[in-house]
Amino acid sequence: MGALIEFQEVCKYYYMGDTTVKAADHISMKIERGEFVAIVGQSGSGKSTCMNIIGCLDVPTAGTYLLGGRDVGKMNKNELAEIRNEMLGFIFQQYNLLPRLDLIENVEIPLMYKGVPKAERRKRAQEVLEQVGLGDKLKSKPNELSGGQQQRVSIARALVGKPAVILADEPTGALDSHTSREVLSILQQLHRDGNTVVLITHDNSIAMRAERIIRLEDGQVVYDGDSKSPDALVQAHIPEDEEEEK
Ligand SMILES: Nc1ncnc2c1ncn2[C@@H]1O[C@H](COP(=O)(O)OP(=O)(O)OP(=O)(O)O)[C@@H](O)[C@H]1O
Ligand SMILES: [Mg+2]
Repeated sequence: MGALIEFQEVCKYYYMGDTTVKAADHISMKIERGEFVAIVGQSGSGKSTCMNIIGCLDVPTAGTYLLGGRDVGKMNKNELAEIRNEMLGFIFQQYNLLPRLDLIENVEIPLMYKGVPKAERRKRAQEVLEQVGLGDKLKSKPNELSGGQQQRVSIARALVGKPAVILADEPTGALDSHTSREVLSILQQLHRDGNTVVLITHDNSIAMRAERIIRLEDGQVVYDGDSKSPDALVQAHIPEDEEEEK
């Protein structure tokens, strides 16, 4: 079986009048089942662009994206929605919970899209809420919870459909450092349980919590390897003219 996620020379270009913005510029990488990978880079480096492509929310301008061996670039809107429901669990910075629904109902939503019967939905939602430590709050509404607890609900919602990939976009962006550590611990536990986790962040100290770091600069991969390597944390690219001044 091939890699779970494979980018072959993926490009995403935006044409703005005379200039071309290369948001993704020939990115090639593979992510295998069971990996915990952080995609890291400064503002404008192309993280959201990659996240949108990995998450089947957008397709490359050129190059090939294979998810579970399937060519996502060739899919129409319906097929994209289908593969998203089937393969991906999303965690966002803003938890995107529905305020009028209780926790069980919020977590059930992805299963409704999959047409899972109600009793089974409830059971699965309860299980994953217990898994993230919220088994005693099943009937609470999101606004009765702390930020960290709300993020745990959104993790439960990402997990409930047993997705092949958990895709977390700045999941600790709205949290204090203590709560951030808790949320990162949950992601690490999910990885130990065998899940594939892709974490998008601009923050090196958060990226370090993954096993592997893919660093982006100007839409290109400038580092791909062990998160513990000293090279993982340095800004690889110093523009030539700046270098000369030194
Ligand atoms: N819809 C768009 N039209 C034009 N340019 C875009 C568009 N979306 C992104 N870009 C450009 O592509 C580049 C990469 O953007 P992207 O949003 O992927 O960066 P990012 O790493 O997520 O940044 P941030 O940390 O600020 O969220 C940037 O130069 C951005 O201005
Ligand atoms: Mg972004």
